[in-house]
Amino acid sequence: MPTKERMLITGGNPLEGEVRVSGGKNTAVAVIPATLLCDEPCTIENLPDIADVHALVDILRALGAKVDYVPNMFMTVDPRPAEGWQVSYRDSQRLRASYYLLGALLGRRQQAEVYLPGGCAIGSRPIDQHLKGFAALGAEVEQLGGRIVARAPELIGSDVFFDVVTVGGTINVMLAAAKARGTTIIYNAAKEPHIVDLANFLNSMGAKIKGAGTDVIRIRGMQYLHKANYAVIPDQIETGTLMIAAAATHGDVVINGCIPTHMEALSAKLLEMGVRVTDSDDAIRVRSNGVHRAVNIKTQVYPGFPTDLQQPMSALLTTAKGTSIVQETIYESRLKHLDEIRRMGAQVRVMDRTAIIEGVTDLYGAPITATDLRAGAALVVAGLMAKGVTEIYEPHYIDRGYEHIEDKLRSLGAVISREKGE
Ligand code: EPZ
Repeated sequence: MPTKERMLITGGNPLEGEVRVSGGKNTAVAVIPATLLCDEPCTIENLPDIADVHALVDILRALGAKVDYVPNMFMTVDPRPAEGWQVSYRDSQRLRASYYLLGALLGRRQQAEVYLPGGCAIGSRPIDQHLKGFAALGAEVEQLGGRIVARAPELIGSDVFFDVVTVGGTINVMLAAAKARGTTIIYNAAKEPHIVDLANFLNSMGAKIKGAGTDVIRIRGMQYLHKANYAVIPDQIETGTLMIAAAATHGDVVINGCIPTHMEALSAKLLEMGVRVTDSDDAIRVRSNGVHRAVNIKTQVYPGFPTDLQQPMSALLTTAKGTSIVQETIYESRLKHLDEIRRMGAQVRVMDRTAIIEGVTDLYGAPITATDLRAGAALVVAGLMAKGVTEIYEPHYIDRGYEHIEDKLRSLGAVISREKGE
């Protein structure tokens, strides 16, 4: 049986030093499709060099846009030659956020065909609210042969009231509404930092979006959007994952280039555990002297505790002193990583969307498998904590959302490497 690709971690080293966080994955996957709304070329900086960004470059080029991309430097998109409106099945499947091409292409040319994104190991992840928003703007939306087909003679601004707070739905309706005729008001909008970042990018092209970051967003459609140069915000979830890794290894790490106000829910929980967290303008220092108290976590929409940090945080809690209760309220199946960490000696009981974690003194290295992006991050945290060597299979999930994660951790003293599959 050929060995599959795996990440190898020898745990026990405290992470120490400084590391710079990359640009945000979840903002990048919204801002890059948004360039299709522009009537002139746009340049974006601070994009993370990750698989999802590479997939979007290919998708924009397949649509006919001219894309100049130098990883870790800039991406310039000239959308003017883009005549396409269809995204292939293969490309649609390469990243979850391919569905943002629906909103961007509807906004650009009132026509879009994108295959349904995969559900994920974390839940069914329907997009009914996205489609409800497009219909409210006058689009005819149908599902044909596994793809969403949306078209409209013209998009007309309207009120959109989301039944659930949805990051993707909020972003997709913003994209479709940016050039609609009239004003669109989104009620019950998501407030994540990357929604504000997308609104700022669109406004830098001359869009008229107000209220991003609150639960009511007003978008006055504009006929012409001019060129823009923009740098995306740092990755909130990578920042949080590095903070958790620093605490997990009882280290002393400064994370540079982050936005501390985006991290308040996590910082508060780490302080509650007895970890020292110090904010400055664009950096956070995390130090741990070793004793961690158990805490309870309940994931919420922003600014509550982010669901994307629940998985790495629950790994940290497996060695906190006492019993921690983790409630995952956003997704129906986002606790599977704990089955893997149980193989390392964790004492965990999972019931539906709740995990009861009895802290143990040590975890022990073992072969484990990542099942999704943030589950992979949780396994890395566990491996950094464990005694001995941990092998993490399917590490490609981690590459989707963390730029050069081994390099960053190795620069802080981690013993981590990657063995390519035979
Ligand atoms: C975004 O996913 C992120 N992905 C997710 O990060 C993140 O976990 C999530 O927001 C919540 O913060 C990107 O930004 C690319 P939602 P999204 O729409 O937009 C339900 C990561 O690890 N819902 O806010 O898909 C849905 O089932 C990823 O980086 C509907 O019912 O999240 C879920 O239970 C994982 N109908 C809840 O709402 C809809 O039409 C939140 O989903 C849409 C969503």
